[in-house]
Amino acid sequence: MSFPILTPKEAAAMIKNGDVLGLSGFTAAGSPKVITEALAARAEKEHEAGRPFKVDIFTGASTNRWADGALARANAIGRRTPYQNTPDLRLRINSHDAHYFDLHLSELAQKFRYGFYGEMDWAILEVAEVFDNGEVVLGTGVGNVPTYVQHAKHVFLELNEKLPREMYGLHDIYMPLDPPNRREIPVFKPSDRVGSPVVKIDPAKIAGVVYSDRYDGIKGFTELDDSTLQIGANVCGFLISEMKAGRIPKTFLPLQSGVGNVANAVLYGLAAAKEIPRFEMYTEVIQDAVIELMKMDRCKFGSTCALTVSDKTESEILHNLDFFRERLVLRPSEISNSPEVIRRLGVIAMNTALEADIFGCINSTHVLGTRMMNGIGGSGDFTRNGYISIFSCPSITKGGKISNIVPMCSHIDHTEHSVDVIITEQGVADLRGLDAVQRAESIIANCAHPSYRPLLQEYLKLGKSGNIPHSLEASLAFHTSFKATGDMHDVDWSRYGF
Ligand code: COA
Repeated sequence: MSFPILTPKEAAAMIKNGDVLGLSGFTAAGSPKVITEALAARAEKEHEAGRPFKVDIFTGASTNRWADGALARANAIGRRTPYQNTPDLRLRINSHDAHYFDLHLSELAQKFRYGFYGEMDWAILEVAEVFDNGEVVLGTGVGNVPTYVQHAKHVFLELNEKLPREMYGLHDIYMPLDPPNRREIPVFKPSDRVGSPVVKIDPAKIAGVVYSDRYDGIKGFTELDDSTLQIGANVCGFLISEMKAGRIPKTFLPLQSGVGNVANAVLYGLAAAKEIPRFEMYTEVIQDAVIELMKMDRCKFGSTCALTVSDKTESEILHNLDFFRERLVLRPSEISNSPEVIRRLGVIAMNTALEADIFGCINSTHVLGTRMMNGIGGSGDFTRNGYISIFSCPSITKGGKISNIVPMCSHIDHTEHSVDVIITEQGVADLRGLDAVQRAESIIANCAHPSYRPLLQEYLKLGKSGNIPHSLEASLAFHTSFKATGDMHDVDWSRYGF
């Protein structure tokens, strides 16, 4: 290999306080592992010596414990976008030690190219293979790599020895032109390949190659409980009834599935739903459940930005690439999440909410309206453009002290204009074609937990007029009650003149 081989420490030593870094990957899948870890150790030493040391981090989505986790613990992150999910970084964001701006994942690459966020000093990529001409084969996640390597002044490569060279052919790297020269993205079905299997980097930019030897470090999902399984069954029941009614073609449409436990349960539900034919996915993350569905021949193809799978499943995929290369393609996030392609393919969007309000708005990001959980991720890309946009969540959380169905969301990521269906373990509220009060009646009757239904019905009577009859005084009473007593049941409408 014609590029300098460096240790993680040597690479980290070349990065300066205030530098802007673009990381490969999407979720922990394909994110750098050793240079960022060494950089965090260096930041700690700098801080001990009384010197400032922070870097700005641009990624594809969340990363891992060795990037966001280690750097956040070292308080070494300045600006950060577009999505995260490690507890340490969450703390830094909520205390404004790290300056987080939360973006739709499809938008970051183009906005970076438009020059909205300034320059990039370093791109750090995890790769499976490096060629002397500067071409690389990426790992299990793509994210915004094509844009970052084009704009970064220098590039570090983490050559991960866990990743076999046979990953060649799994990726489809395509970057659209920018306005006014943008043309259609020529993806007409999930399995279309329209770009290159490699990312091309100017060899002069490659400052060094660092070896690593780690899987992505993603834990398996927790055992599915009865409530989560019932949500999965309700989503599948809804999809089957839509197909039987002729509103989804008999050949079915590509599915997108969000992140988290509920999303995983929905996918496991599809294994049992034999009325649904073999289907394809056009999505941003593929979790363990999809790999199981592929082995069962229920899922025939998956287009994704990342293989966000447990280490056990990652190893299985990497040791059976002949099987999976036929069934998977990994794309940059601006293609996996492209509004144009999502709308063209008729993708059925299935995402998870923290809370939904009775009029159909969704909070995906802020716990009790203030604390950032993870970020909007790709939920907006898919929800706004999906053929049908579904949100699911349990009806109650924290042993019933929190109702996930509230009078008004304490923060709104998706408005009623984009949300077609809300599903909990209680049932399905199909909001299509309903006015605001009809939506509220349906959500309360079908999705709210029985112990909260009377309170929500009473709230609906409180607001006396208007298209959306909120009581502005009482709309956040569920949340203020939880803050005061630790239980949303303690809301007292008489305080609002009811
Ligand atoms: N109020 C307060 N806390 C709540 C809550 C609410 N309304 N709803 C959930 N929580 C808590 C849960 O109790 C749990 O807490 P714990 O970690 O202490 O156990 C935590 O939030 C996560 O809840 P869980 O039900 O396990 O959620 P999940 O793993 O299914 O993830 C989201 C749900 C919304 C956080 C996740 O889907 C997300 O980040 N979405 C935004 C991005 C997105 O949709 N991307 C997909 C596009 S492809």
